[in-house]
Amino acid sequence: MPAPVIGGFLSLKGASQAMPKKLKVGVIGVGGIARTHYPGWLESPHTEIVALADIRADNLKKQGAELGVSKLYSKGEDLIADKEIDIVDICTPNMYHTPLTVAALEAGKHVLCEKPLAPKPADIKKMIAARDKSGKLLMTAQHFRFEGTSKALKAEISRGVLGEVYHARSWMLRRSGSPTTPGFVLKQHSGGGPVIDIGVHILDLTLWMMGHPKPVTVTGVTQDKLRRLPGAFSNWGGPVKKEWDVEEFAAAFVRFENGATLILEVAWLLNHPKTHGEDMQMWLYGDKGGAHWPQNLILKTDNKTRQHLDIQLQNAEGGEAHAKECVAFADAVATGKPSPVPAEESLAVLTILDALYQSAASGREIVLKG
Ligand SMILES: NC(=O)c1ccc[n+]([C@@H]2O[C@H](COP(=O)([O-])OP(=O)(O)OC[C@H]3O[C@@H](n4cnc5c(N)ncnc54)[C@H](O)[C@@H]3O)[C@@H](O)[C@H]2O)c1
Repeated sequence: MPAPVIGGFLSLKGASQAMPKKLKVGVIGVGGIARTHYPGWLESPHTEIVALADIRADNLKKQGAELGVSKLYSKGEDLIADKEIDIVDICTPNMYHTPLTVAALEAGKHVLCEKPLAPKPADIKKMIAARDKSGKLLMTAQHFRFEGTSKALKAEISRGVLGEVYHARSWMLRRSGSPTTPGFVLKQHSGGGPVIDIGVHILDLTLWMMGHPKPVTVTGVTQDKLRRLPGAFSNWGGPVKKEWDVEEFAAAFVRFENGATLILEVAWLLNHPKTHGEDMQMWLYGDKGGAHWPQNLILKTDNKTRQHLDIQLQNAEGGEAHAKECVAFADAVATGKPSPVPAEESLAVLTILDALYQSAASGREIVLKG
C-alpha cells in the first residue's frame, strides 16, 4: 500500500520529520544594539546564532558565554570567511558598515546591517552594487518600522486615508541625551552626530509613510552650542567631552518632486521639554486628513457637516521592534521575499542627510541631482 500523502508531502510511517536546515547567523560587533538583535534570531524558527565577532575580547567572551556560542572571532573578516554562516548581522559603529557589508555579500552571505547603512551615499551605492552582484538580501535595521504603531499607521496611509500627503513635520529631540562613546561622538567612527544617529530613524519613518517621494532640494543647519558650556553633561553617562567633533542639533527643510515638503529637527542636546528619553514625533498632512505618530491619531474635516473628526487607530501586533526586524529578515531570507527595508530607501534617507550637512557648511540650498 502506498504511504498516505498529507498536504502535498509524502508521509512515511516511522520516518522522522525532515526539519528544514536553520540559517546560521554570525553577529559582528557585540555591543549595546547586538543584544537587542539576539532575541529575534532566537525567536525566529529559521535561524540560530553560531558565531560572534568583536575587536574587544571582554565583550566577546561575555556574550559568547551568555548565548552559549563557542565560535568567537576577534576580526569581523574571519567571521565572514566562515563557510558555515548564512546571515551576517553587522552591529559595529557606522564607519565599519560598508567594508564589512561588502565583504560579507562578496562571500555569499545575506546581510542585516544596523542603521545608518553608511553615513555617505557613495558608500551605500557600493553596498547596493555588492548586493546586486551577489544576489543576496541586504536590509537596514530600521526597527521603528516594526513598531505596532508604525505598522498600523502605514496600513491606513496605504489605504489612502490621508489622500495626498503634501507636508510633514518630524523631530527626534533629546534633552542632555548624547551618547558618550567614541563610536558616536567622533566622526571617524560615526560619520556624524544626531543627524546620522537619530535623524536616520525619524527620516526613514517619515519617508516610508509619505511613500518615498523624490527629494529635490535640501536646506539645513547644524549647531553645537550647549556642549561648549561649562559643566555640559549627558544623562547617558557623565560630562560631554571636549573631543567631540560632531554636531549636537540640526534642522532641515526638504522639497520633493511631487510638491510635498518636510521640516526635520534632531538633537542630542536641546533645552526642550523631555527630561528623560526623547521626544520623537511625526505629523503628516494630506488633502483627506492629517496624522500624528506615535499617538496614531487621524484628523479629518467634514466640510458638509463642518465637523472635525479625531480618530484613534488601534495598533497592529506588538512585540519588541528590534527583535521583530530580525524575525522579518530571517523570514524574507528563508522564504525568498524581498528585503523588508531595501537599501535604496536608506540611500534616499542618507542623500537628504548628506545634503543637510552640505547645506549647513555652505549656507545655501542644495539641489539634488539625478
Ligand atoms: N537601531 C537602533 O535603535 C540603534 C541603537 C543604538 C545603536 N545603533 C547602531 O548600532 C551600531 C552599534 O552601536 P552600539 O550602540 O551597539 O555601539 P557599542 O559601542 O555599544 O557596540 C559596538 C561594538 O562593536 C565593536 N566594534 C567596533 N569596531 C569593530 C570592528 N571593526 N569589528 C568588530 N567589532 C567592532 C565594539 O568593540 C563594540 O563592542 C551603530 O551603527 C549604531 O548606529 C542602532
